[in-house]
Amino acid sequence: MNTIDTFEDVVVLPDERGQRIYDRLVGLDDYKERLVKEVLLLLDPAQLHSWNKEHHQGKLAAVEMFTSRPPLFVLAGDVGTGKTALARSFGNEVAKRSKVRIELRALSLSSRGSGAVGEMTKLITGAFKQVRDSVAQTRGEGGKAGRGIILLIDEADALAQSREAAQMHHEDRAGVNALIRGIDELAAAHLPVAVIMCTNRLNALDPAVRRRAAVVFEFHRPNKEQRLAVLKDALVGSGLTVGDLEELAAATGRTNDRLYGFTYSDLSQRLIPSLVLDAFPSKPITSAGMRRVIGAIEPTPPFEDQSHATRTVDVHQ
Ligand SMILES: Nc1ncnc2c1ncn2[C@@H]1O[C@H](COP(=O)(O)OP(=O)(O)OP(=O)(O)O)[C@@H](O)[C@H]1O
Ligand SMILES: [Mg+2]
Repeated sequence: MNTIDTFEDVVVLPDERGQRIYDRLVGLDDYKERLVKEVLLLLDPAQLHSWNKEHHQGKLAAVEMFTSRPPLFVLAGDVGTGKTALARSFGNEVAKRSKVRIELRALSLSSRGSGAVGEMTKLITGAFKQVRDSVAQTRGEGGKAGRGIILLIDEADALAQSREAAQMHHEDRAGVNALIRGIDELAAAHLPVAVIMCTNRLNALDPAVRRRAAVVFEFHRPNKEQRLAVLKDALVGSGLTVGDLEELAAATGRTNDRLYGFTYSDLSQRLIPSLVLDAFPSKPITSAGMRRVIGAIEPTPPFEDQSHATRTVDVHQ
């Protein structure tokens, strides 16, 4: 099985386009910083020991908790809120700061296989093996990795759905087990690999997968300030005034007749292009045009994570 069969795509970072996407993400600074730090430590764990020496005379036992911690990060939440964009782009910042080559490998959803017995398990096991093999020999004398991998499992609920779900096919169950094994093996071997799962349905993730997550990041729709930041970024210089943009930021929030505002993708993929095309090719963007366009666009309804209704176990108990 080769890389092309197993992974939807493999991107070598840093790349300029990815860095631009990363830089333009709004409202995610804390998540960015945390993800970047986590992966920098996976690449070069000795930095934590140096920090311990410098600031705690090397006595802080807490740093040991990082050893063998599953390198799994879950990005969960509403549609169009930047999960995929962040997962695909933060490796640029890691590559830039560490000066190490990072590969982003996205596990293809077709790795659910054709349903033939053993196929999904074989594909997942194969993907983790390829990842392990390509970084197995990469650590230098000080323990710093010469390269790292971000393994992205987007729409992860499709692969990691709860084994408790009654309708779950035996083969899917074996696939989830293979996934858990793959993550555990990465942790045990201290490899410079981070597994990132994105999902709209956190509650549908298998509890054993979820409990392995070092962090679960929750993603939300933008508030007014964040909407304004996206609008300004795209529309400064258009002739719309700050007052117009503030009006637009307010109009794209919750209103009397709807309990939810626009998602980031509603703004950047629907509203802003509509504003442009409303004016193009014969006139500029104007406040009157803006009001016409906003009246004609509705935000995407929120993704309801229904699955928690069927869950009976509270993982936090
Ligand atoms: N935080 C953000 N700041 C600026 N733009 C954003 C942000 N989040 C999303 N966008 C815009 O919306 C687009 C879609 O976002 P993305 O694909 O990351 O959403 P998602 O959370 O993965 O959604 P889904 O759950 O539907 O897969 C991005 O390409 C980007 O243009
Ligand atoms: Mg996505």
